[in-house]
Amino acid sequence: MNRTIEAIIKHTGATSEKKSASAPSQTMKAIRIHNYGGPEVLHYEDAPRPEPQAGEVLVRVHAAGVNPIDWKVREGHVKDFWHHKFPLILGWDLSGVVEELGRGVSRFKIGDEVYSVPDPNRDGAYAEYIVVRESELALKPKSLHHIRAAAVPLAALIAWQSLFDTAQLQPGQRVLIHAGSGGVGHLAVQLAKWKGAYVFATASTKNKDLLRKLSVDEPIDYTQQRFEDVARNIDVVLDTIGGETQERSWSVLKKGGNLVSLVQPPSEEKAKELGVRAVFVGVQANGEQLAEIAKIIDSGKLAPVIDRILPLSEAGRAHELSQSGHIRGKIVLRVKDQTS
Ligand SMILES: NC(=O)c1ccc[n+]([C@@H]2O[C@H](COP(=O)([O-])OP(=O)(O)OC[C@H]3O[C@@H](n4cnc5c(N)ncnc54)[C@H](OP(=O)(O)O)[C@@H]3O)[C@@H](O)[C@H]2O)c1
Repeated sequence: MNRTIEAIIKHTGATSEKKSASAPSQTMKAIRIHNYGGPEVLHYEDAPRPEPQAGEVLVRVHAAGVNPIDWKVREGHVKDFWHHKFPLILGWDLSGVVEELGRGVSRFKIGDEVYSVPDPNRDGAYAEYIVVRESELALKPKSLHHIRAAAVPLAALIAWQSLFDTAQLQPGQRVLIHAGSGGVGHLAVQLAKWKGAYVFATASTKNKDLLRKLSVDEPIDYTQQRFEDVARNIDVVLDTIGGETQERSWSVLKKGGNLVSLVQPPSEEKAKELGVRAVFVGVQANGEQLAEIAKIIDSGKLAPVIDRILPLSEAGRAHELSQSGHIRGKIVLRVKDQTS
């Protein structure tokens, strides 16, 4: 492999300006796909260990969060959007320790405990090591160990960017969060409460208690009630479901309100007709926002819920569970203890 040869040349170069915590080995364990398909295309195998370039950091991954985007990429649903090359390492959510610094990195040092959403256009975190841009990293919350920290970054960032950057949610406003028990939803409801909003959230009967524990003001059991019968005059809807749920969400919005969808671009015509704003939002890697989120976690106002912890080699099982659509909080893959 070209990358392996490249890595050997770089590792033996006497003039390297990089700083490293340990003598690098040339390979690492990773879950890779070589083509699109079902969970059977996930291979636990040796892969070249990546090398940080200028402005990049090599992180020893301790844990990787699992998100629906992982199996959507695996199945090829986003191949027209992200032009991934095979073999591809999946997983864009991680917590770990800084192992090596590329040239010019100044905000982190070897041994720092960090978490990140790496660029989804590049290799992900289902691996012992990952290279991440300095701008995509933040120190992980001190109050969380790596497994719990890995549950946070992607879901919390998209919640933050949807509610605060896009919808400009204000204290006292009314927000409806669909799938309040899911990976994004359970963090979104806590962030909305932290902001001082009045929160409605949907989930099935078995998760109503979780919504109460998360201090949701009006939990809605979508198997028993139509959410539009309970949530009215809403300033912000966070749509994590799409389809019929998105269609029915228009009626709950007040004039000037915001419909923010993570799954499906809402109709611009419909938004104009109703005098509301409706947008699709995609997550952006952002270390500064992750640093803000870490502070909120360490203040005790935000905490991830973990549905399941699985070893890295069981990524296929994790994908099957995620694809069920009924995960409570997050699934996390344990990387470090399994491979070292
Ligand atoms: N645009 C982006 O950048 C971006 C970023 C992150 C996520 N996403 C997308 O957003 C969606 C949600 O992500 P996620 O990580 O939160 O997914 P998830 O964790 O798999 O969501 C599972 C949750 O959905 C709930 N649910 C299922 N059907 C529901 C319904 N009809 N009404 C209300 N709740 C329902 C389930 O609750 P019950 O078990 O109680 O039914 C479960 O707790 C996914 O499609 C994901 O790909 C997009």
